[in-house]
Amino acid sequence: MKDILEQLEQRRETARLGGGQKRIDAQHARGKLTARERVDLLLDEGSFEEFDMFVTHRCTDFGMEKQKPAGDGVVTGWGTINGRLVYVFSQDFTVFGGSLSETHAQKICKIQDMAIQNGAPLIGINDSGGARIQEGVASLAGYAEVFQRNIEASGVIPQISVIMGPCAGGAVYSPAMTDFIFMVKDTSYMFVTGPDVVKTVTNEVVTAEELGGASTHTRKSSVADAAFENDVEALAEVRRLVDFLPANNREKPPVRPFFDDPNRIEASLDTLVPANANTPYDMKELILKLGDEGDFYEIQEDFAKNIITGFIRIEGRSVGVVANQPMVLAGCLDIDSSRKAARFVRFCDCFDIPILTLVDVPGFLPGTSQEYGGVIKHGAKLLFAYGQATVPMVTVITRKAYGGAYDVMASKHLRSDFNYAWPTAEVAVMGARGATEIIHRADLNDPEKIAQHTKDYEDRFANPFVAAERGFIDEVIQPRTSRKRIARAFASLRNKKVVTPWKKHDNIPL
Ligand code: HXC
Repeated sequence: MKDILEQLEQRRETARLGGGQKRIDAQHARGKLTARERVDLLLDEGSFEEFDMFVTHRCTDFGMEKQKPAGDGVVTGWGTINGRLVYVFSQDFTVFGGSLSETHAQKICKIQDMAIQNGAPLIGINDSGGARIQEGVASLAGYAEVFQRNIEASGVIPQISVIMGPCAGGAVYSPAMTDFIFMVKDTSYMFVTGPDVVKTVTNEVVTAEELGGASTHTRKSSVADAAFENDVEALAEVRRLVDFLPANNREKPPVRPFFDDPNRIEASLDTLVPANANTPYDMKELILKLGDEGDFYEIQEDFAKNIITGFIRIEGRSVGVVANQPMVLAGCLDIDSSRKAARFVRFCDCFDIPILTLVDVPGFLPGTSQEYGGVIKHGAKLLFAYGQATVPMVTVITRKAYGGAYDVMASKHLRSDFNYAWPTAEVAVMGARGATEIIHRADLNDPEKIAQHTKDYEDRFANPFVAAERGFIDEVIQPRTSRKRIARAFASLRNKKVVTPWKKHDNIPL
């Protein structure tokens, strides 16, 4: 018996070494952790239980039968994050470059199936040279099996991808179908075709980092949601994110202990909006002052900064925030900000996370690049996302809510539950100057008349009361009481139920 136990321990030791000490050292020399070190950092200490540690590939081509490392290049299993169940896979670059074989894929699929069946988030750590070249189509089939499960899991359990090394070719499409993608600066990259192919086909010379590094994907393409300095920071941030999320679409997000009075009065908010309607102010200040303990988890911080998305807690409960940022492009909606916010709204709606919308929007960004880029369809994504959301929604208009953007930003008409406005709000078809120049075109050459018309328009429309008179704004509130109002509103909506007509699924503009 003792021998058998020792043999087991020895087998485990060998399996834990993956591709061997030399390759582990090489991984460390690049500033990367190993697959198992990453899992250990991600999960609560001692909580990890591994599946399929002894699985090996079955390939007999190209002399592969001589090398059969246990685990086949991916570590899979389950554990907890702050006591809550999660499933995880972590590709082991020290074994055939973390490449995906038929059996490697089967291990990932097993974990995906478990996560879906048992309703727990799935976190995938990607560090892989892509399809196992020696296995050919068997590997491609394996990818497609993983993709199919990503699709099935979408909207059922939160799926988070962490890119901690190469992720290239079709392999990118598994992370692409998950809810969040995190990258590590300088050591990770994602692209459909690498720099060599790009050079051959388009003659462009580009480095891997420029083509698909963390900075590219968080600032330019918006493929990734955040970039971190190193593996340790990235994994700590995944833990932080998981704390905001429910385990699945049938459960509520966790309620965390909170020490911040929900009735806190924030007098400084009374002066947040500057007297001049064209002077910007930082909407993040408002977000930080509304949430419990000023804790804000921002998503896509470096992309489309004219809109802010992320999570706060109010009375210990997760709330998704969407807010126009007057500091960037005056907070207007455009292609990028519409796409960013639409995806975020849909995520919150999938997972029963209430949505708080903070509005200061002068309209949609004009221009040929916007029209040619399809701002009509992209703007419609956000409109559609809000209109189909059935989670509790609270909206606060701090200043401008002009034109179509007023409708889009969780207006009463899209079934938002509570629509508040600060006294500084201006709900109108457009700014006073623009409106005057259109409806009083005949007076355009008379500055005095134009000034008078502008003032008349401002007096009539640059306020929240026209909308409040019609019930489109439920109440005009003191800025200082915003946290209290929002907290009470969300508390009253905890049992919200909306019945929607049966459909297979909708046809959101894409
Ligand atoms: C088998 C692979 C491999 C792969 C790397 N290795 N990629 N083995 N299949 N795809 C092995 C290497 O042979 C090497 O083995 C070890 O992993 C480490 O690789 P290195 O090249 O030494 O590492 P590095 O210099 O860091 O380069 C990493 C790399 C490079 C950029 C990822 O290995 C590379 O270009 N690999 C091929 C990438 C690729 O073309 N993949 C297929 C893409 S198509 P030893 O024994 O020396 O340690 C694809 C389609 C998916 O993925 C489609 C889904 C629909």
